[in-house]
Amino acid sequence: MEQTGELAHRCLLLENRELAEGWHLFELQAEGLVHADPGQFVQLRIGSATDPLLRRPLSIHYADAQRGRLRLLFQIAGSGTALAAQFRAGEELDLLGPFGRGFPHLDEKAPAIFVGGGIGMAPLFFAAAVRRGAGLPFKFLLGGRADAQLPPDEYFRSHGIEAQIVTDDGSRGDRGSVTLLLERSLENLSPPYRIHACGPMAMLSRVVELARPAGAAVHLSLESRMACGIGACLGCVHPFYRGEQIEYRRVCLEGPVFDGEEVVFEK
Ligand SMILES: Cc1cc2nc3c(=O)[nH]c(=O)nc-3n(C[C@H](O)[C@H](O)[C@H](O)COP(=O)(O)OP(=O)(O)OC[C@H]3O[C@@H](n4cnc5c(N)ncnc54)[C@H](O)[C@@H]3O)c2cc1C
Ligand code: FES
Repeated sequence: MEQTGELAHRCLLLENRELAEGWHLFELQAEGLVHADPGQFVQLRIGSATDPLLRRPLSIHYADAQRGRLRLLFQIAGSGTALAAQFRAGEELDLLGPFGRGFPHLDEKAPAIFVGGGIGMAPLFFAAAVRRGAGLPFKFLLGGRADAQLPPDEYFRSHGIEAQIVTDDGSRGDRGSVTLLLERSLENLSPPYRIHACGPMAMLSRVVELARPAGAAVHLSLESRMACGIGACLGCVHPFYRGEQIEYRRVCLEGPVFDGEEVVFEK
């Protein structure tokens, strides 16, 4: 059943900019959504059909409460996001949200390390901007395929984020994976610190392994295919450890951010 009420928002698209190859940045007038927490997401309706499956989950990439502006950043992954990339400034978009639980403890004094794999940086950017605004320490580590497939350095700097970037082909920063960058960062840092990560599952699994010896808390934002987005269809469940047991939790409702130690990674 389609959800309405306080979670339904019609938002004016102010700008659709290609921020990197195949990555689109939407700037929206969205007063009703700007108080969302970093890590929460919205469901964007793509087509005009009534089928709610046409909605696609996208993280809140940035919110400017003063100006009532919201940003979404997405990579074209298939038919839905390819259609979304064609939306033009001046169109009114139909969003539901905000949904889910965001990154915890963003206000604590201990340093935070954000670790993003590709478009996984979308929600981390908002979390880092919140810490930046509060004057709290953080590192922002990002890995991507190539220079052209990542936002320009200037985009991060204009929000006070000094991103450390590596690429698979060495076309920006060192050649290598973001987990190597994390490994290096951890050598120069003493606990306590907290890690927040979003990206491919193999990357997330490695982040948890690297954090374990230092006893650092890790929070991971998971992606899962979603239908309802509100906890009703069970289409988004993922396995988690609960002591010796395994239980299934809904990424849309209990997540998308989870304690990394509880996430089950398929071998
Ligand atoms: C909570 C949440 C937040 C997200 N935030 C962002 C974001 O900020 N920016 C962004 O670019 N993407 C984000 N995604 C992923 C995004 O929702 C999918 O890329 C999108 O739904 C794909 O739709 P499509 O119709 O273009 O592709 P489809 O044709 O549906 O699928 C294309 C390919 O992507 C895979 N895929 C589809 N949906 C997902 C998914 N949810 N997770 C993993 N793989 C998927 C399919 O298996 C297929 O291989 C998020 C997903 C979740 C669950
Ligand atoms: S998407 Fe329906 S329960 Fe999560």
